[in-house]
Amino acid sequence: MQKIKKVALLTSGGDAPGMNAAIRAVVLAAHHYKIEIIGFKHGYNGLINQDFFILDHKQVHGLINQGGTLLKSARCKEFHHQDGLKQAANTLIKEKIDALIVIGGDGSFNGLLKLQQHWSGQVIGIPGTIDNDIDGTDHTIGFTTAVNTAIEAIDKIRDTADAFERVFIVELMGRHSGQITFNVGVACAAEQVLSFENFFVNTEKDRSARLNEIAEHIKKAQTTTQSSYIIVIAENLWRGGAHQLAIDLKQYTQTDCTACILGYIQRGGSPVAEDRILATKMGVAAIKALNDNKTGLMIAEQNNTITTVSLSTAIQHQKQVSQNLIDAQKNILAMSAQSSV
Ligand code: F6P
Repeated sequence: MQKIKKVALLTSGGDAPGMNAAIRAVVLAAHHYKIEIIGFKHGYNGLINQDFFILDHKQVHGLINQGGTLLKSARCKEFHHQDGLKQAANTLIKEKIDALIVIGGDGSFNGLLKLQQHWSGQVIGIPGTIDNDIDGTDHTIGFTTAVNTAIEAIDKIRDTADAFERVFIVELMGRHSGQITFNVGVACAAEQVLSFENFFVNTEKDRSARLNEIAEHIKKAQTTTQSSYIIVIAENLWRGGAHQLAIDLKQYTQTDCTACILGYIQRGGSPVAEDRILATKMGVAAIKALNDNKTGLMIAEQNNTITTVSLSTAIQHQKQVSQNLIDAQKNILAMSAQSSV
C-alpha cells in the first residue's frame, strides 16, 4: 500500500483555544511517521490563494498553551461556489498533497465534503469550535476553555450584581446551540438560563408571555434577601439580543437591567488542560487514521475513548444539550430557587 508523504493542514471558522495544541500534535505525529506537513493559512482561503508554508516540528515548540491559531483562521465565501472548490483542489494537486486535515466546526467539515467532489486525496476533520455543537464527539476542542472563561467572568459580574443588588443579563456565544449557555448557566447558578432548548419565542405573544414570566420571577426575588439576579441568554435567541431584552424587561419590572455581552473573550486565551489533552489525542489520531489509509472521517472522543465518525454523520444533526442538564435546571434548580425566593 502506498504510504502518504505530504499532508496539508489548516484551521477554519471560529478560532478555538486548543487549535494550536492540535496543530502541534499533528506536526509531531507526522514527524514520527516521516510525513511532511504543509500549513495553509487563513482557512480554505490558503488553499485558494496558494498561501502555505512547511510546518516542521521545531515550529511547534511552545505552542501547546497558546490561544488562537498559528495558521490563522477565516470563513471562506469562495468555498460556497464550485470555482472556489476547484481552485482549492488544483492547489492540492499541484503541490502533490496526499491528504488534508481540517481543524474546525460543522461549516468547515461541510466544505471538506464538498471538496471531495473535486479532489481524491484523503480527508480528515478534527472538531475545533467553542460551540460544542458537532454530533458524534463528547467535546469539541475549545469548548471547555470557553465555558471556564465565561464562568470566571460571570463570577466577577456576580460580585457587582450582589453589591448593587442589580439584575444582569449576560449573553453567551454558541451561534444556534445552547451548549455554552446551559453549562455556564448551571455552573454560575444563574437565576435564569434562557436557551434554544428551553425558551421558545416564535411569536409576539410568546415574547410577552416570556417577559411576564421572567418579570414575575425577578419581582419575587426582590422581595427576599436575595441580592443579585443573573440571567444568561444564548446569542441569537432574543430579537435584538441582551441589550433589547434589558430594555424590554425594564418595562415589565420597572427595574434597571444591565446587559453584558461576553462575546469574543470566550474564543481567546490559553486552553485549559482538558482542551490541550483532547487536542493532542485528536491530532495524533488524525495522522494515525491517514497512515491507516482512512478518509472522510472526523476524529471524535466518546466516553473517554478516541474514535472516528464519518464526516457526513457528524454534520447531519447539531449535537443536543444533555437532557439531564436541561431537566435538572428546569425541574430541580429553577424550582428550588423559586421556592427560596
Ligand atoms: O462558532 C464559533 C462562534 O464564536 C459562534 O459562537 C459565534 O456565533 C460565531 O463564531 C461568530 O462568528 P464570527 O466571529 O465569524 O462573527
